[in-house]
Amino acid sequence: MSGPSLEEVLRRRRVLVCVGAGGVGKTTLAAAVALRAAALGRSALVCTIDPARRLANALGLTWLGNAPTAVPAEVLAREGIRLAAPLQAMMLDLKASWDELIQRQAPPGQHERILQNRFYQTLSTALAGSQEYIALERLGQLRERSDAELIVLDTPPTAHALDFLDAPSRILDFLDNEAARWLLDPALRASRISLRLAHWGGGWAAKTIGRIIGGDTLEELAAFLGAVSGMNEGFRERARAVRALLASPETGFLLVAGASPERREEALRFHAVLGDRGLQRDGVVVNRVQEEPPASADSELEGLHEPLRSELVRTLGEARALAERDRLSVRLLREGTAPVPLVAVPRFSAEIHDLRALWRAGSYLLGEAAIL
Ligand SMILES: Nc1ncnc2c1ncn2[C@@H]1O[C@H](COP(=O)(O)OP(=O)(O)O)[C@@H](O)[C@H]1O
Ligand SMILES: [Mg+2]
Repeated sequence: MSGPSLEEVLRRRRVLVCVGAGGVGKTTLAAAVALRAAALGRSALVCTIDPARRLANALGLTWLGNAPTAVPAEVLAREGIRLAAPLQAMMLDLKASWDELIQRQAPPGQHERILQNRFYQTLSTALAGSQEYIALERLGQLRERSDAELIVLDTPPTAHALDFLDAPSRILDFLDNEAARWLLDPALRASRISLRLAHWGGGWAAKTIGRIIGGDTLEELAAFLGAVSGMNEGFRERARAVRALLASPETGFLLVAGASPERREEALRFHAVLGDRGLQRDGVVVNRVQEEPPASADSELEGLHEPLRSELVRTLGEARALAERDRLSVRLLREGTAPVPLVAVPRFSAEIHDLRALWRAGSYLLGEAAIL
């Protein structure tokens, strides 16, 4: 028995989050999903993170905008695509989103100081989970403000997909624990020096730390912690709201997997974690699956000259072995994730960065096409 098809998901979901390991195709497929939802008659917004420049251009995102922009009908028409509802796209600017959050949360007169602070700059870019957190924070805003019926959220290019689910808790931990340790250099981070100890002005600890990391740095850290201490409660509330958003009945997850054995196992683990946390698993996409070469290939090669023929025979053999491997992966993933609907998208001969290729990827998502 299978759950609702991906098409049904696109027809009824409010928020769909594309998750998966780095490089599997999250950004691409998020765009393809939104495109197809709009074609089905649901106004859709895709919020991309760090899209390839050519994909961004194809979506009409020519400047780094943090706000939704309509994909122009004439751009779509040029590719022969007519949508039944508007499609919007945006590129999430992680740094600008953090700055906006600080401006909203900081006590009056404090936000400039925070934005200038070097530790803030580290926090907003380097703290593990900070990108994931701000993406979710932004999603919360979009859900409240966007008139799109479906919001598709791409997720940051992190190595570990789990970082995404853990981001709100990480931020809460960060606020609860010694923020400094995260921000100081790795040697200190590994040490057991507490924030209070590091804070202790004039004491040996501060002097020692100051000697290692520089006195100015320590002062700046103290200033940062002073400035943000007033916002802890507001932050904490936001982080809780963001965490609730993940578990909301409006939110579903689309897991993008690769077909190699490592990618497959990774996806199966991630699928299990989503389930353990009670999150809604709307679909699994196995991306870049090798298609079986046509049966006629062997006879077509027969008349060719050497060494071309041998070369092609070898290539053909490799493609068949890969197709076999990928078929096994798709089967194992299907068994491991049932009854969540699973679709396979083939490895295209070129990267997917125009609307036509997105549309084609969409036909596999909706079951209009299937891998042989
Ligand atoms: N099915 C596919 N066939 C060929 N190229 C693909 C396919 N899916 C994605 N790509 C390409 O792979 C690259 C990485 O995809 P991307 O969506 O940016 O991955 P992620 O967002 O998960 O890091 C892009 O250049 C994209 O065009
Ligand atoms: Mg990406």
